[in-house]
Amino acid sequence: MQSSEKLDLKSLIRSIPDYPKRGIIFRDITSLISHADGFKQSIRDLSAPYLDKGIEKIVGIEARGFIFGGAMADYLGVGFVPIRKQGKLPGKVVAQDYSLEYGTDRIEMHDDAVASGEKVLLVDDLIATGGTAVAACELLQSVGGQVEGAAFVIDLPDLGGVSLLKERGIDVHTLVA
Ligand code: PRP
Ligand code: ADE
Repeated sequence: MQSSEKLDLKSLIRSIPDYPKRGIIFRDITSLISHADGFKQSIRDLSAPYLDKGIEKIVGIEARGFIFGGAMADYLGVGFVPIRKQGKLPGKVVAQDYSLEYGTDRIEMHDDAVASGEKVLLVDDLIATGGTAVAACELLQSVGGQVEGAAFVIDLPDLGGVSLLKERGIDVHTLVA
């Protein structure tokens, strides 16, 4: 059943304490994406500021950024580029190490996925410390990509990621805090 009423997206996101480690409250978007109207609204609301921005590609961060980024690419009528964890992409890659709220990791992107000067929008489900998103922006900029913005369903403001991106001149759009 589809409805035109605005939903409270925050209420559709589950919080799971002590996952994946003690002390972390995991904000779980599976409860949002399994709700047809909630998922649809999140894609429309995330995309709204970018309808007239000439975005040429959506870049989604593994894994949950693929869910929102893929749907946004379809909605905006542009291509999709995956940024993946180490060792998952078959072609030649550019790589960047980064730290997480709960560990460290490395992300990679095909070195020919974004052309120099291409206008891209970075998408993920959530921004916490901003380590992942900053690393993704660095990857994109290393190949000459023009990062027009970064969009996230969830911001964890106490962890400072949005400020970190803004300090680097990246325009940020989030739906719930
Ligand atoms: C989560 C989330 C973001 C990142 C945010 O992904 O989906 O990508 O952490 O954290 P940060 O702002 O502190 O960098 P995770 O690394 O858990 O990977 P997953 O989506 O593959 O589970
Ligand atoms: N990624 C980093 N911190 C997170 C959290 N608290 N919930 C879900 N994903 C996360």
